[in-house]
Amino acid sequence: MSNFKSNLSFFFLHLLTLLLLGFLLNPVISDSRGETVAQICSNRTTIPQQRSLFVTSFLAAMDAVSPLVEAKGYGQVVNGTGNLTVYAYGECMKDLDKKDCDLCFAQIKAKVPRCRPFQRGTRGGQVFSDGCYIRYDDYNFFNETLSLQDRTVCAEKEITGVNRTLFRDNAAELVRNMSVEAVRNGGFYAGFVERRNVTVHGLAQCWEPLNRSGCVECLRKASEKIGSCLDKEEGRVLNAGCYMRFSTQKFYNNSGNSTSDGNGGRNRLAVILAVTSSVVAFVLLVSVAGFLFKKKRAKKQREKKQLGSLFMLANKSNLCFSYENLERATDYFSDKNKLGQGGSGSVYKGVLTNGKTVAVKRLFFNTKQWVDHFFNEVNLISQIDHKNLVKLLGCSITGPESLLVYEYIANQSLHDYLFVRQDVQPLNWAKRFKILLGTAEGMAYLHEESNLRIIHRDIKLSNILLEHDFTPRIADFGLARLFPEDKTHISTAIAGTLGYMAPEYVVRGKLTEKADVYSFGVLMIEVITGRRNNALSQDASSILQTVWSLYGTSNLTKVVDPILGDNFNEIEASRLLQIGLLCVQAAFDQRPAMSAVVKMMKGNLEIQTPTQPPFLNPGSVAEMRKMMSHSHTTDSHQQDQTQSSGSRSNIISESFFEPR
Ligand SMILES: *[C@@H]1O[C@H](CO)[C@@H](O)[C@H](O)[C@H]1NC(C)=O
Ligand SMILES: *[C@@H]1O[C@H](CO)[C@@H](O)[C@H](O)[C@H]1NC(C)=O
Ligand SMILES: *[C@@H]1O[C@H](CO)[C@@H](O)[C@H](O)[C@H]1NC(C)=O
Ligand SMILES: *[C@@H]1O[C@H](CO)[C@@H](O)[C@H](O)[C@H]1NC(C)=O
Ligand SMILES: *[C@@H]1O[C@H](CO)[C@@H](O)[C@H](O)[C@H]1NC(C)=O
Ligand SMILES: *[C@@H]1O[C@H](CO)[C@@H](O)[C@H](O)[C@H]1NC(C)=O
Ligand SMILES: *[C@@H]1O[C@H](CO)[C@@H](O)[C@H](O)[C@H]1NC(C)=O
Ligand SMILES: *[C@@H]1O[C@H](CO)[C@@H](O)[C@H](O)[C@H]1NC(C)=O
Ligand SMILES: *[C@@H]1O[C@H](CO)[C@@H](O)[C@H](O)[C@H]1NC(C)=O
Ligand SMILES: *[C@@H]1O[C@H](CO)[C@@H](O)[C@H](O)[C@H]1NC(C)=O
Repeated sequence: MSNFKSNLSFFFLHLLTLLLLGFLLNPVISDSRGETVAQICSNRTTIPQQRSLFVTSFLAAMDAVSPLVEAKGYGQVVNGTGNLTVYAYGECMKDLDKKDCDLCFAQIKAKVPRCRPFQRGTRGGQVFSDGCYIRYDDYNFFNETLSLQDRTVCAEKEITGVNRTLFRDNAAELVRNMSVEAVRNGGFYAGFVERRNVTVHGLAQCWEPLNRSGCVECLRKASEKIGSCLDKEEGRVLNAGCYMRFSTQKFYNNSGNSTSDGNGGRNRLAVILAVTSSVVAFVLLVSVAGFLFKKKRAKKQREKKQLGSLFMLANKSNLCFSYENLERATDYFSDKNKLGQGGSGSVYKGVLTNGKTVAVKRLFFNTKQWVDHFFNEVNLISQIDHKNLVKLLGCSITGPESLLVYEYIANQSLHDYLFVRQDVQPLNWAKRFKILLGTAEGMAYLHEESNLRIIHRDIKLSNILLEHDFTPRIADFGLARLFPEDKTHISTAIAGTLGYMAPEYVVRGKLTEKADVYSFGVLMIEVITGRRNNALSQDASSILQTVWSLYGTSNLTKVVDPILGDNFNEIEASRLLQIGLLCVQAAFDQRPAMSAVVKMMKGNLEIQTPTQPPFLNPGSVAEMRKMMSHSHTTDSHQQDQTQSSGSRSNIISESFFEPR
């Protein structure tokens, strides 16, 4: 019986590891050939009265094009009638294998809504990546070879390290050769020219519907235009009918090189996950926009007035920053000002004209059209004020993308202090205690004391910023509120950070304050032990399990960060470890509230006896099993709510149960 249990437990552990690995691999894969090279939006829009019909055709066309691309590598779709007809086309480069093609296409498809077909009724859009292509438009463009919107994209970097004349000659030869060979070869060529030790790689492809003369014409034009890039390391021409690229790097035929090892099952799952998350992004954009859109149509007139007045309010309010000012403050979002990258966007350091330094967050979701909701939320959140929270100063909603402006905290994050920087004094015990207590107080305020009940969802070392006197400041709270309540759990399951995520949250998407408490417990144990919680080894060697196994013995404080030597308060340390264990209990309803954590840390409340952290306890395995079946139903529920592409979410839950 116990053998059966442990087999079961192994099975679920394995499952979870696969799931987590999928999350981990996701970014590794995404930086392959699916990254956007150019996004080209049409300047034609549908009149507001007809937008919902246009959007219906658009969604149907987008839905129908993916299965075609997945089946044969390209596909064209027409949906709708009259001037509401939508034409859609997708194609992968022919050197990609099926797996990479699916992945690539899912990624660029998720970018199409950025042309704002919902909000503006934009009647056409194209997204080019180095691995695939997607386009929708309001006329039959399938045989189009060239258009006014065609682009030439040269790399910034000049050729270095090789003889430029030779490189130019070789690149020109390659381009000539590519145009000829691709036409001869059914519209595709990938290869290189190497002469006198200088190699240039290239790829050219005509889209499938083009006939021979169309392909010749398109590549001839591409060869001409790519000539302007021959001094650079890389050049691309993005035409309506074809794609051409040369580079110093070999970038083609690289299927299978994007992942580190060849475990097929894992790769497949990773791909499914990556594809799913792109689909989820698409669905989210679509459903959120669709939702707003519907709402808007229903009370169009009123809304219009409201929108106008909100813009005015936004412009007057001191919460408002102009996009141009923030652009200048951050030196046009230059890389040297980039402070970091989070799940919802990247953060830049900026200096305002009045000399004040701020942190500017560029939201990944373009929320410009959510003005009503967004502005209200920013307004509410900006009223939240606590010594341990990073203050939100305001936002910009009138520019091309939505920005949030936070106060700037000079010192580094707790993560950098503990694990990255070699040039700082290690944090002593008193500082660690101060940081943990302050963090707990800030969280208690968010959960229980502020007028809004805010679940942070992403408590981790890198979200705890430190002031000069080591007062901790929690960053990035309240963002969750900017997204509609019922649609969010899938996106955050993807955005959340491994190792800090409570089991009920990972598996079931169940989100309560107790998920934050779990993350805090992990953070507390990490700070005390100076070790990271490795998400992938929730077994006997994980730091949570180590602390748990020593709990109740006289050796508990052996896990305290050895860098502290004997310079710590042993009683305090074992109390904190015990509180940490209370926070990471598998049963979420037994985890203490943050206000109780604060009291326990201050010694004003008796510390309960913790139960086990997740994954080793057979009971929690049964619990997880329940959760798994739960997550299945959540998925189909999700599908009901959203209008498109939902069928993919079934793939993921079904593949959970595939034995391997
Ligand atoms: C749309 O863009 C095309 C060129 O890209 C331009 O010729 C045309 O005038 C634009 N139309 C509008 C309404 O801006
Ligand atoms: C489409 O046609 C309808 C009626 O035929 C017309 O009212 C509308 O303006 C047209 N829309 C566009 C974007 O041309
Ligand atoms: C457009 O898509 C819808 C929904 O998938 C489908 O019912 C309809 O037949 C399609 N129309 C055309 C003209 O293909
Ligand atoms: C090739 O396609 C173009 C554009 O559709 C068309 O004008 C041309 O007649 C076609 N040529 C042949 C030989 O079919
Ligand atoms: C580069 O190659 C050309 C042609 O072979 C030669 O004439 C030239 O001297 C070379 N330049 C350098 C800097 O080596
Ligand atoms: C790349 O792959 C394509 C298609 O499989 C093949 O035709 C081509 O020869 C390959 N090129 C190189 C340089 O390996
Ligand atoms: C052009 O491509 C063909 C076929 O790949 C090859 O045989 C020929 O050598 C190439 N020309 C040069 C100059 O590399
Ligand atoms: C090409 O490189 C190899 C090894 O790097 C070297 O032995 C050879 O002399 C080089 N040939 C030319 C023509 O530069
Ligand atoms: C596009 O080309 C295909 C074959 O290349 C042809 O059958 C079709 O009629 C063409 N369509 C248009 C609109 O030119
Ligand atoms: C993968 O990359 C390595 C080196 O980066 C290269 O040698 C190998 O040929 C690549 N494999 C494929 C299938 O392109």
